[in-house]
Amino acid sequence: MMTGPDENMPQNPPKNITDNPIYCALDTVDAVEAVALAKSLKGAVGGVKLGLEFFSANGADGFQRVAATGMPIFLDLKFHDIPNTVAGAISAVMPLVPKILTIHTLGGPDMMCRAVEIASIEAEKQGVARPCVAGVTILTSMDDTDLAAIGVQNTVADQVTRLAKLAHFCGLDGMVCSPKEIALARAATNPDFKLIVPGIRPEGSAAGDQKRVMTPLEATSAGADILVIGRPITKAPDPAAAARKIAENLAISTN
Ligand code: C5P
Repeated sequence: MMTGPDENMPQNPPKNITDNPIYCALDTVDAVEAVALAKSLKGAVGGVKLGLEFFSANGADGFQRVAATGMPIFLDLKFHDIPNTVAGAISAVMPLVPKILTIHTLGGPDMMCRAVEIASIEAEKQGVARPCVAGVTILTSMDDTDLAAIGVQNTVADQVTRLAKLAHFCGLDGMVCSPKEIALARAATNPDFKLIVPGIRPEGSAAGDQKRVMTPLEATSAGADILVIGRPITKAPDPAAAARKIAENLAISTN
């Protein structure tokens, strides 16, 4: 049975995740490199993203080493399991105080509601703001043919819209979407729902393996709340300077 969010659960949803919308993806297994990058990017970005690659190699200890730089952290582990297991995983990472964490919306409504509930309960216990619990809809590596192969007859756009509505209904704080999906995600939810957008390329930087890209300004103008930017910053000769330039183009002051 589909259930909505529990009205009695503690409500302390995040307000401003950051004044600087740039989160730099530190896609590395090397904790020393990640700490050095996080240190150098202080003041130039709003936070950093650590994903499966980093966490599988370095675990909570690696997270804490990056967190010790004072940088807010988006923990992108894309949890997807039965509600009880996802709740257990969220409880396990909450002591790390991530600013943003991700779950798969394909885990279904009960799993999503339970995820928000446990994040709220743990945050209240710790006396911290609840992390932004964001949903991943359809991975951007999948197209309509891939959906058909797993028995989903909807197009990617229709399925993303459906899952965005469901995530919003279940009380999630936001979702991850491609630049191309910003408009439909916003239309399916509301202005407070945080849209976290990878596939961002500043003018003149290489798209690499990203197929549908937008510049930072195009993405924020379209309604993105958080810009996830990896290689254009991490592979630049001077990552901090590259990040500052992006922020300045968005009229964000850096210090
Ligand atoms: O280096 P780049 O800017 O392409 O990095 C983008 C980051 O966002 C990577 O960590 C990638 O895994 C992540 N991401 C993505 N597309 C998605 C979801 C996450 O590029 N749909």
